[in-house]
Amino acid sequence: MSKPEILMMGPYPDWDLVELEDRYIVHKLYEAEDRDALIDRHAGSIRAIATRGELGASAALIERLPKLEVISVYGVGYDAVDLAACRRRGIRVSNTPDVLTNDVADLGIAMMLCQSRGMIGAETWVKDGSWAAKGLYPLKRRIWGRKAGVLGLGRIGFEVAKRLRGFDMDIAYSDVAEKPYAQGMGFIADPVALAHHADFLFVTLAASPETRHIVSKEVITALGPDGMLINISRASNIDEEALLETLENGTLGSAALDVFEGEPKLNPRFLKLDNVLVQPHHASGTIETRKAMGKLVRDNLAAHFAGAALLTPVI
Ligand code: 8YV
Repeated sequence: MSKPEILMMGPYPDWDLVELEDRYIVHKLYEAEDRDALIDRHAGSIRAIATRGELGASAALIERLPKLEVISVYGVGYDAVDLAACRRRGIRVSNTPDVLTNDVADLGIAMMLCQSRGMIGAETWVKDGSWAAKGLYPLKRRIWGRKAGVLGLGRIGFEVAKRLRGFDMDIAYSDVAEKPYAQGMGFIADPVALAHHADFLFVTLAASPETRHIVSKEVITALGPDGMLINISRASNIDEEALLETLENGTLGSAALDVFEGEPKLNPRFLKLDNVLVQPHHASGTIETRKAMGKLVRDNLAAHFAGAALLTPVI
């Protein structure tokens, strides 16, 4: 039997590509000089899309692929996949939950520590000779014992909160409803009130049209000039214009961000700021987790083409 044809929206590590090419005819959209021409050429035979969380699959693309049956997302977030278009056509969608949870939480904590203790600046202080020339590095803020807010106590938010406990922090969270597993944490439903409570506000919500700009100017202002905003979810959860403005005028103390509108071409205003730590959307970027994510993408595709249920279905 001939191999099913799949469209890859963005690159995966070589270890995944080798396996995918073994089982499928793989069309790499990201390598095509003329993407439209590639889609037109293979539209009648593409049965699956392998995409990445931030790339997803638009309604326009889905509509151009009449034989499309399944979309496998390399990532837990599927906000960039047009689910309505998939539902209309009975297209199945899978993602890669759980396998990345701990690494994403780890990076959130690392960003908080790094930013609060000024570690990037401290390294520069050593390497550019400032330590020897100017003396002691400026004092920074502690994290242990202070107040944390977790906006979205799902799998990733819960793992963030678990780690924060190790720093004896006073932890509160916001979600659509109280969570039975949130022991020892305060429930503050209103994001503005949560930000008032917090010195460190973690954004760990799954993004959707409903959560767009949930971190509004009001939330950011409530966090205040001593507060830090840490985003390991999606840029769309934050009003980025308000974030930039408040970071620039000091209404917000600092931010640590792994995700940006228009990434990887982020707003250049971020690059001029000393009070923001920027990361290249790599919270799940460890070899171990990416291997598990790639395997789950492949296992979902294999299940689909074997006529079985998806392992981690979105729809
Ligand atoms: C990945 C992500 O970096 O899980 C997600 O939703 O955004 C990240 O884990 C991304 O999907 C890989 O491209």
